[in-house]
Amino acid sequence: MRILTGFQPSGKLHIGNYFGAVKPAVELQEEGDAFYFVANYHAMTSVGKAAELKDLTRECALDALACGINPEKSTFFIQNAIPEVHELAWILSTICPMGLLERCHSYKDKVAKGIAANHGLFAYPALMAADILLYDANLVPVGKDQKQHLEVTRDLAQKINDKFEDNLLVLPEPKIQESAAVVPGIDGQKMSKSYGNTIPLFGPEKKQRKLFMKILTDSAGVEDPKSTENSIILDLYRLLASESEVEAMMAEFKAGGVGYGHFKQQLWEAYWDTFAPFREKREALESSSDDLEAILKIGENKAREVAAKTLSRVRTAVGLNWI
Ligand code: ADP
Ligand code: TRP
Repeated sequence: MRILTGFQPSGKLHIGNYFGAVKPAVELQEEGDAFYFVANYHAMTSVGKAAELKDLTRECALDALACGINPEKSTFFIQNAIPEVHELAWILSTICPMGLLERCHSYKDKVAKGIAANHGLFAYPALMAADILLYDANLVPVGKDQKQHLEVTRDLAQKINDKFEDNLLVLPEPKIQESAAVVPGIDGQKMSKSYGNTIPLFGPEKKQRKLFMKILTDSAGVEDPKSTENSIILDLYRLLASESEVEAMMAEFKAGGVGYGHFKQQLWEAYWDTFAPFREKREALESSSDDLEAILKIGENKAREVAAKTLSRVRTAVGLNWI
């Protein structure tokens, strides 16, 4: 079974991305032949500056590798190392009805937010479909917001198969990460770079600690018993501490006599300890560009081999192999 997903480097990866996307991808490496990539072509629809795109792409690769994407278990590459994806995207575009793209919520939401509607933003789902179909992916783990893009992908694959050849493209199954896994940001809304409430996965110690200290709490005083319902501190602690540690914190919440500052400190320590091995790995990788390059090259070669086979099959079927 081929498992595939992309991480879009349109901002620094945050704790929500880790628990909602990276960690599940790490776990899925054990279930099949995983293909993971940094979707830097897609990020171009929101990142305008060259230096920023370059940095975010590299950072995203480092973050993913540091957190357990294992290049020995999976094929890990940068999307634009395989520009052949555009040929398939074009072929898909020629059978893709305008209405299918016009109905996409993600596109409509971005335009409603005032983002200029350009062709890249509009065609985003066709490129995403090409990402998936180029590698014959069977299972695609994504967040809820990407569900419709998977439906577009299946629709396009079916149209190509109906028009040119049965079973030419593999129809992928989405694996939707359910809302139970929504990680709150420091203000209590879903942690998201669009809300400016994120805690990046990695960062300088002082800056990171400050973010934890800024977590919103209710107005209970030090001596007051505290509500264990809707507590951002507890919700994050559940992700980072053991069951018995969570129970101990809950008992202290209920008993009163301990201020929120103390709980934030405990949460901070749990975060800092949990990510210590990842931090070490990231620092090692960061200090050697050669290692990162070598890892990405291996992934690129493996990805290209699969991409070339699919593309050759598709070219023949659609009449582009004209010799
Ligand atoms: P953002 O909301 O910061 O823009 P993205 O939409 O780029 O994040 O999400 C990338 C991946 O991370 C998706 O699979 C999404 O489901 C997951 N993700 C993002 N934020 C959270 C969160 N707060 N909790 C759980 N998963 C999240
Ligand atoms: N659009 C996805 C996101 O925003 C990233 C992505 C690009 C992707 N290509 C993909 C995800 C292919 C899964 C499969 O998260």
